[in-house]
Amino acid sequence: MTASLSLFIVGCNESNTDSLKDAYAHDFLIGTAINYQQTLENSPGETRLFHTHFNALTPENCMKTEVLHPAWNTFDFSQADQLVSFAQKHDMVINGHTLIWHSQLPRFAQQLQSADSVRQFFESHIQTVASRYAGKLQSWDVVNEALEEDGSLRSSIFLDHLGAGYIAEAFQLTSRAAPDAELYYNDYNIEMPAKRAGCIALVKDIQSKGIRIDGVGIQGHWRLGQIPFREIEESILAFDSLGLKVMITELDIDVLPPDSSANPYAAGIPDSVLHQQAAEYEQLFRLFLRHRDKISRVSFWGLQDAKSWLNHFPFRGRTNYPLLFDRQLRPKPAFDRIMELKRE
Ligand code: GLA
Repeated sequence: MTASLSLFIVGCNESNTDSLKDAYAHDFLIGTAINYQQTLENSPGETRLFHTHFNALTPENCMKTEVLHPAWNTFDFSQADQLVSFAQKHDMVINGHTLIWHSQLPRFAQQLQSADSVRQFFESHIQTVASRYAGKLQSWDVVNEALEEDGSLRSSIFLDHLGAGYIAEAFQLTSRAAPDAELYYNDYNIEMPAKRAGCIALVKDIQSKGIRIDGVGIQGHWRLGQIPFREIEESILAFDSLGLKVMITELDIDVLPPDSSANPYAAGIPDSVLHQQAAEYEQLFRLFLRHRDKISRVSFWGLQDAKSWLNHFPFRGRTNYPLLFDRQLRPKPAFDRIMELKRE
């Protein structure tokens, strides 16, 4: 073999095995949240990471109601349209996030007083947004975070004015407006038994009405040293047994203490913590691979540590390290471990 041919072959192998989405191509989609600024491609380094490693996008904010529907009967699709162009250019599918959620609502919606006006807002929002993107999105998080930790329904303008049936109605309206989109319920901590039971009841109610629901998204905002592996596995099995696709939709591993405003790693994170995080990401991906026949997508909640919401939650101005790429856009030990899994 000539030197140049062997170099070419090595080069091909490297590019394949260095791409997360290629490494997991036969298992599940690899997604990430993206913010509007990133869709403008001002950072070539970030664009290269999106393009190389991910085949699915979830808008971090630009398809939330406060952005799309800022005033009564007034819609602004500019940011969401830009996201669609970015995804088409880079050959990625989009999960729309999210149609009905109690949070990040525009002020006018939070102030609606009557059941009649909430109903008009609810119906027009779903119909207008879902039909505009019909055929352009692979899926929708139709309802986000409708459950409390004990599995009961969370109080919101929707529950309070429309009653418990609003969830099934949201799925029905979306299935009419976007017949080709997969329809998901998405929430955090739904791997935990009480909340999982609430989710199962919610799904069964939708199914018993003959309304389509295609999947459940387990958000996956977990904390280092406290990932509930057993409950995650039980939940994947439970949701699969309802005939649903399962996704991990907002994955990150928080490395900071939960209940203090301390910022222990402001000047840098110890290698020991990065390696513990890598080991836990590996354990998670081993679990996901065992259930690759049930899991259709694993999406991270952000591309790189500097852009994570966990730098601002639950306290502003912290320095967190939850994702696969560091602040210089270099792959972290967690990235290497989940890539190595596919070379075993
Ligand atoms: C929830 C929402 C997301 C995002 C994250 C944190 O999980 O579903 O849209 O707001 O919180 O940023």
